[in-house]
Amino acid sequence: MDKPEILMSPGPTPVPPEVLLAQAQPLVYHRGPGYGALLREVTEGLQQIMKTSNDVLVFASSGTGGLESVVANLLSPSDRVVVPVAGYFGERFAKIAVAYGADVRTIDYAWGQAVRTDDVKAALDEAPAKAVFMQQSETSTGVIHDVEAVAAVVKEAGVLLAVDAVSSLGAVPYDGDGWGVDVTVGGSQKAFSATPGLAFVSVSPAAWEATKTATNPRFYFDWAAYKASYDLKNPENPFTPAISLMLGMRVALRRYLDEGVDNVLARHRILSAATKEGVRALGLDLFGEGREKAWAVTAVRAPEGIDGNELVAKVRADHSIILAPGQGPLKGKVFRIGHLGYYDRFDIIRCLAALELTLHSMGYPVKPGSGVAAAEQVFAARPAASADPTVR
Ligand SMILES: Cc1ncc(COP(=O)(O)O)c(C=O)c1O
Repeated sequence: MDKPEILMSPGPTPVPPEVLLAQAQPLVYHRGPGYGALLREVTEGLQQIMKTSNDVLVFASSGTGGLESVVANLLSPSDRVVVPVAGYFGERFAKIAVAYGADVRTIDYAWGQAVRTDDVKAALDEAPAKAVFMQQSETSTGVIHDVEAVAAVVKEAGVLLAVDAVSSLGAVPYDGDGWGVDVTVGGSQKAFSATPGLAFVSVSPAAWEATKTATNPRFYFDWAAYKASYDLKNPENPFTPAISLMLGMRVALRRYLDEGVDNVLARHRILSAATKEGVRALGLDLFGEGREKAWAVTAVRAPEGIDGNELVAKVRADHSIILAPGQGPLKGKVFRIGHLGYYDRFDIIRCLAALELTLHSMGYPVKPGSGVAAAEQVFAARPAASADPTVR
């Protein structure tokens, strides 16, 4: 049957029709009050979700552009920067810093481990550093790093902290100003349920101060140019913005804020718990430290004798559901279920049912309905959707 495939990868995530329709609207000219109001609303919505009163800059780029902007604006060549690497995206932040000639001190973890504050402190004690770059959600392993705890030691050392929250912002609790984060990077295609193509970067006063002496080359991603344009009477971007994506993002943020930040987070927590219980009930092992905090993505070890990549391919071929395979050293060993963004409880139940059928067809012993039943028990323990909008 000709039905669209269902995304259950940790980004891009499904986009509500209302957001897609907004993107089909006529363009708003980008110099003038119409776009000014649009950019202001998107910026202020992001500030609410990042819990920051710092400037938030919006780029037409994927999340990686936002990460690159951090290196270009904060550092000078040979500045020392500490980068915990516990997966694919930690590696990426480190690689960008290397590409710009920074003196990169990685803290290397086995994939699946969480960053330890003591290690960050030790790396900062070893020699002066300009900044620490870390993920909140390391999407390749599902692990949530404790930004609050790391921020405390980084602040103590008087060093800047930049957080890649691309796959966690909006899905996992975040308190930019409360934790003292200098720079937060987000992307449109994850928990916000908008289409890919926008990156967001918040910049603290201390980070602005650092940009004044940082000499790395920058042009498209020059934060100061974005701030100067935003500060006009009608806020603008310095270059032609992705107007259609911004129209979609505005609707995505309205939906998000109408549901309510706390309610959206509660929904992610419950969907994550149900997914994990369902997977455990199938006799599969969850992967990574601090699993219960991994509200954005669940990483699962492929069972003995079954290749994770083949499993992902077969779920897609047989049931049109797109899970994510393992990356790097986890290739074939792990598969990942994304549940951040526009999902409800029946998305999880459908996904677990597809997993049961696929595992069965691959020779893994499955009691039909056992994963689904475990997930339903998680949902049943919560009030019904009609009684409690947080549990839709
Ligand atoms: C934690 C994290 N950082 C950075 C990125 C890179 O974002 P993009 O693919 O939008 O460049 C991703 C994308 O999956 C991510 O999950």
